[in-house]
Amino acid sequence: MARKNIVAGNWKMNNNATQTQELIQGLKSSLEGITLNSRVVIAPTFVNLSSAVSSTEGTAIEVSAQNMHQADSGAYTGEISADMLKDIDIQTVILGHSERRTYFGEGDELLKEKVNTALAKELEVIFCFGELLEDRKSDNHFAVVESQLKNVLFDLKADQWKNIVLAYEPVWAIGTGETASPEQAQEMHAFIRSLIENQYGAEVSEDVSILYGGSVKPGNAQEIFSKKDVDGGLIGGASLKVQDFTEIIKAI
Ligand code: PGA
Repeated sequence: MARKNIVAGNWKMNNNATQTQELIQGLKSSLEGITLNSRVVIAPTFVNLSSAVSSTEGTAIEVSAQNMHQADSGAYTGEISADMLKDIDIQTVILGHSERRTYFGEGDELLKEKVNTALAKELEVIFCFGELLEDRKSDNHFAVVESQLKNVLFDLKADQWKNIVLAYEPVWAIGTGETASPEQAQEMHAFIRSLIENQYGAEVSEDVSILYGGSVKPGNAQEIFSKKDVDGGLIGGASLKVQDFTEIIKAI
């Protein structure tokens, strides 16, 4: 199974019900007739997931959640479980986004639980990780990324990797307008693939999709996506505009 290209839009805490529908309808029409070279995924907020699933039915657009709780169910006020996502036909969940790590204190140990729960429930996981600016400045970026991956994912069994998508997102590039250069992205993606190869062998490492995230825009998408170990992108700001997101999808 060869790895797939993926362009995923992380809408974060944006778009009410009406705006969600407007954006989906806009995307549906702008993608009509285009031969897609990638999977297309959108991640609206929890309250709009159900309506997003209904209005994308029969289209190429897939819907992902932005987070979930690690427990099966119970007294966890305000939280959402994997079963609840599955029940509304969600197949994918983003875990480990840097905003979850920074603002909600999610660390490796918790993320490992979340990933394990998601996989046990047969959800696909888009696992995000990446270094801070200070890590890069102090030349620690490879070590940081290695530990984020090892601590959370390297106890998985080889066959569980078919439900893992990686999203390398250097924190200094998220929402800042600053992008890693295509060479910096390729260098890190190749490093990530080599770590997986060492742990699991070439079959797993060649099959896993590794997305780049952090200020991907229509103007830089093509060059980043052209790199051999970059299999698409996780797009924040630019996924909120039909035209920008469509251009990024076309860039792959
Ligand atoms: P950005 O966000 O594209 O707005 O930088 C990316 C992300 O947070 O996934």
